[in-house]
Amino acid sequence: MKKFILDLQVISVEALSDKHVLIKLTDLKPLPEIIPGQFLEVRIDHSPATFLRRPISINFVDRDNNQLWLLVAIVGDGTRQLAKLKAGDTLNCVMPLGNGFTLPIETGKKFLLVGGGVGVAPLLYFGKVIRDMGCEPVFLLGARSAKDLLELELFKQYGRVYVTTEDGSLGEKGFVTNHSILENESFDQISTCGPGPMMVSVARFANKAGIECEASLENKMACGVGACLCCVENTTEGNLRVCQDGPVFNIKKLLWQL
Ligand SMILES: Cc1cc2nc3c(=O)[nH]c(=O)nc-3n(C[C@H](O)[C@H](O)[C@H](O)COP(=O)(O)OP(=O)(O)OC[C@H]3O[C@@H](n4cnc5c(N)ncnc54)[C@H](O)[C@@H]3O)c2cc1C
Ligand code: FES
Repeated sequence: MKKFILDLQVISVEALSDKHVLIKLTDLKPLPEIIPGQFLEVRIDHSPATFLRRPISINFVDRDNNQLWLLVAIVGDGTRQLAKLKAGDTLNCVMPLGNGFTLPIETGKKFLLVGGGVGVAPLLYFGKVIRDMGCEPVFLLGARSAKDLLELELFKQYGRVYVTTEDGSLGEKGFVTNHSILENESFDQISTCGPGPMMVSVARFANKAGIECEASLENKMACGVGACLCCVENTTEGNLRVCQDGPVFNIKKLLWQL
């Protein structure tokens, strides 16, 4: 897929919690084709400590309004600068990068989309796209506490939403892999994004249940375009670059202890 370097314009930056923001961007030209699960590399201006671009998932693409959304957790200098953006600023982005989630080839399939923390980001657009393609997305979203659950009302627009919190403040108490829906329903495909241990647990469940499963990895990245090899993941096909060959991988390719 052709990659672009675009100066996107900031429409708004909304605080979703004390450490998460939703950034809405637009361009004068129609946004390029984007597959759910792809990401972009943003240039962080006004932060001398942040030399490299930062990879951020594409949270949502609103074609009607030519908008692209980023859901950002503030963890360091780079993301702190992103949270300070104001309407009218520009954000230089290289996009779209990587291989996204595999799209359904048949209608009527039931997908379980499992997200943890800010890892829910790519699942919103994926859910919308598979719903528009005649499949059913069911979302299972986990976080430490109710205040860390992001975009719940937006997810509800595209499918049923189930929630776990570690402190029991919303939904079932515990981890996503303990949720009762995994015992009570069957799924054709599972897609997951979030903390590594969570994705391994989800992959273990899918493997045991014989369900196809894809995981979106968030290995640390530098160049984001396959040149520096700093993001490699050891797989059944040798070392693959998460930025170029992923970030989405079928779990059968990953050397996780399933
Ligand atoms: C493909 C991909 C998609 C991503 N999508 C999103 C997204 O949609 N929203 C979002 O908020 N973040 C996302 N991330 C993570 C994001 O890139 C990092 O949080 C960001 O680069 C941190 O930059 P910083 O300058 O703020 O922090 P730094 O100063 O670089 O780091 C601050 C702290 O965060 C830790 N950290 C840095 N990168 C990561 C990482 N990838 N995973 C876990 N911890 C990390 C560092 O170890 C350090 O402790 C994604 C990462 C990848 C690889
Ligand atoms: S980040 Fe450079 S090769 Fe992946």
